[in-house]
Amino acid sequence: MNIKDYLEQKRDDVDRFLDFVMPSATTAPATLHESMRYSLMAGGKRVRPILAIAAAEAVGQPAPGLMPIVCSLEFIHTYSLIHDDLPSMDNDDFRRGKPTNHKVYGEAMAILAGDALLTMAFDLCSRPDLMKGCDSVRQVRLIQELAYGSGNMGMVGGQVFDIQAENKDIDLPTLQNIHKHKTGMLIRAAVRMGAIAAGATDRQLDDLTGYAEDIGLAFQIADDVLNVTGTREELGKNPNTDAERGKKTYPTFYGVDGARKLADDCVTRANNRLASFGTAAEPLRELARYITSRRN
Ligand code: IPE
Ligand code: IPE
Ligand code: MG
Ligand code: MG
Repeated sequence: MNIKDYLEQKRDDVDRFLDFVMPSATTAPATLHESMRYSLMAGGKRVRPILAIAAAEAVGQPAPGLMPIVCSLEFIHTYSLIHDDLPSMDNDDFRRGKPTNHKVYGEAMAILAGDALLTMAFDLCSRPDLMKGCDSVRQVRLIQELAYGSGNMGMVGGQVFDIQAENKDIDLPTLQNIHKHKTGMLIRAAVRMGAIAAGATDRQLDDLTGYAEDIGLAFQIADDVLNVTGTREELGKNPNTDAERGKKTYPTFYGVDGARKLADDCVTRANNRLASFGTAAEPLRELARYITSRRN
């Protein structure tokens, strides 16, 4: 399979659905909707929804409500980026190739756009019209996965660990714990949600969870490496910001080459977890490789 074509096709599907469910920029309150759209439709890679789709494909059963489920992850992710860039957090000026949300709409509107994207994620997974055909027990399980991966025990918890570590001489287990939560938990939720939506067995879910935890770590190590090696044009966000903010990252501990090697080891481990899946898991295997080879 050609991963480039796969990513492009799935990204188009996700973009179309996001555009369909997101109110127009003229719907009242217009500034809020314009600001939400500004970040949501700014051209992210859509890695989390695509991972969820690929996990559902690996399980191979029908998955009613898959699009709202996978797109809810992108709503959460986009909100997390808007808040992550705020002056009180990473104070970044550039994201997805454009000025950050608060630079355009002001801090108050950026906070509210993030709040609304977060809330809308749960609306999407709960709407009877969008979730038609999804068994209600399965639906509640999906919603709980999303909440757990996003909240205090997941991404938000990780963001707290991350800011508490700024300008501190943290050790490697502390760094790993930050990455596991701030990035890993939403990626874990993505893979698990795709799998649950398609009715995975407990054994399949265990294997896919192991896969997700390894690629989640690989994803953030790659982000750390790109922060050192990438350009603003490639990344769509400013490079070198980790060092500027006194953040210890994988390259701080291992150097760029050492960090790359560790990310590759995570990918090998992740793909070993997919041994019991056949060719239907090929997109997941290719996605794991893409995560460390990407340039943005
Ligand atoms: C960036 O995520 C923030 C992290 C959690 C590492 P992505 O690299 O997926 O960003 P977009 O969605 O493509 O902009
Ligand atoms: C972002 O982590 C993690 C989120 C939950 C948003 P970073 O702060 O390291 O990611 P970038 O480099 O700003 O995209
Ligand atoms: Mg951050
Ligand atoms: Mg940041």
